[in-house]
Amino acid sequence: MNEHPPSGYEAFDLLATMVAVVRPDGECLFANAAFESVMRLSRRAVQGLNLFDWFADATRLRETVAAVAGNAYSSGRFDAQLRRGARPHEDLLPVQVIVSQTDSPERVLVELIENAQQARQDREERTLDQVQATKELIRNLAHEIKNPLGGIRGAAQLLALELQPTELGPELEEYTQVIVHEADRLQSLVDRLLAPHRRAQVVGDVNIHEVCERVRSLILAEYPRGLQVLRDYDISLPDFRGDREQLIQAVLNIVQNAAQALQVQIAEGSAVITLQTRVARQVTIGKQRWRLALELHIQDNGPGVPAEIRDRIFYPLVSGRDGGTGLGLTLAQTIAQQHQGMIDCDSEPGRTDFRITLPLP
Ligand SMILES: Nc1ncnc2c1ncn2[C@@H]1O[C@H](COP(=O)(O)OP(=O)(O)OP(=O)(O)O)[C@@H](O)[C@H]1O
Ligand SMILES: [Mg+2]
Repeated sequence: MNEHPPSGYEAFDLLATMVAVVRPDGECLFANAAFESVMRLSRRAVQGLNLFDWFADATRLRETVAAVAGNAYSSGRFDAQLRRGARPHEDLLPVQVIVSQTDSPERVLVELIENAQQARQDREERTLDQVQATKELIRNLAHEIKNPLGGIRGAAQLLALELQPTELGPELEEYTQVIVHEADRLQSLVDRLLAPHRRAQVVGDVNIHEVCERVRSLILAEYPRGLQVLRDYDISLPDFRGDREQLIQAVLNIVQNAAQALQVQIAEGSAVITLQTRVARQVTIGKQRWRLALELHIQDNGPGVPAEIRDRIFYPLVSGRDGGTGLGLTLAQTIAQQHQGMIDCDSEPGRTDFRITLPLP
């Protein structure tokens, strides 16, 4: 039995997917950091154990490892269930298994990708692509609306002036006022659509907890009764370079949504929003990998995001509430992306969690 992990495998520790190197009989020679943490084992405990024991049904894996080691084929890919914890059938984790050859027939590489992780990565990439495309469309459209809007408003004002001295003036002034008022409303919508692209970033050192505290005091000023805003901070998080005001805006938009969703709970006095910060290692954001990142979770105990818009809440003009313009989350996502980060959401009735992930230096 090998006492030390074979050298040269350390780089696998940098991967977010689980990787193990095994003998053809399944004996584990190496398991990377991701594997250890998913299996909740230490490296010492992993070595010498048999990989096949960790699967609900290892038949397919056994065959594939033997075939790959025996050079019948160079790699195989299939779905399986990984067993965590001691009791059988407890805590099964669906994974995709990829078995490949190494430079030695005595060693086989087994890679496991959590299906949930795969699904999440696919979803994130799709979201980023779509957001990019819609952003472009919206921006062009907003520009096209802006110019004629100025003309309409100006003409309505002139009309009002012309009408004033006439008999019909006072009666018709109401109509011209409606035109001016509606034009103004549209103008401010268009301004908000264009807002994320308008202001240049002001980059400085940002402390995420200062951002959280600012947002906390703003929301508590708005909802002085019935709402608790709890903090669960990891104060070891370092500062990072970013635009503080923009980040406050992004977090505030999310917290405001939570408070708006919590109307019933606020009236009952049971509304809770939690701001939680954590370190994350080896994260993939879009297509880029980062060694270190911070996660800010904004959780609420409200009714959850309505199911029919859950997939689309980050798109512009998607709103589930009366009077909503559907721009708050779009803007927040744009700001996160300008910081190479991203926002995602996990929601069910009673527990909604918006997660902002931002890379750290
Ligand atoms: N914490 C939450 N709980 C329940 N639903 C939420 C939550 N956050 C967002 N939503 C839903 O997502 C929708 C989109 O949010 P977004 O902030 O983009 O737009 P809005 O709040 O409707 O309008 P705006 O922010 O532009 O004033 C909301 O209308 C709401 O239905
Ligand atoms: Mg909003």
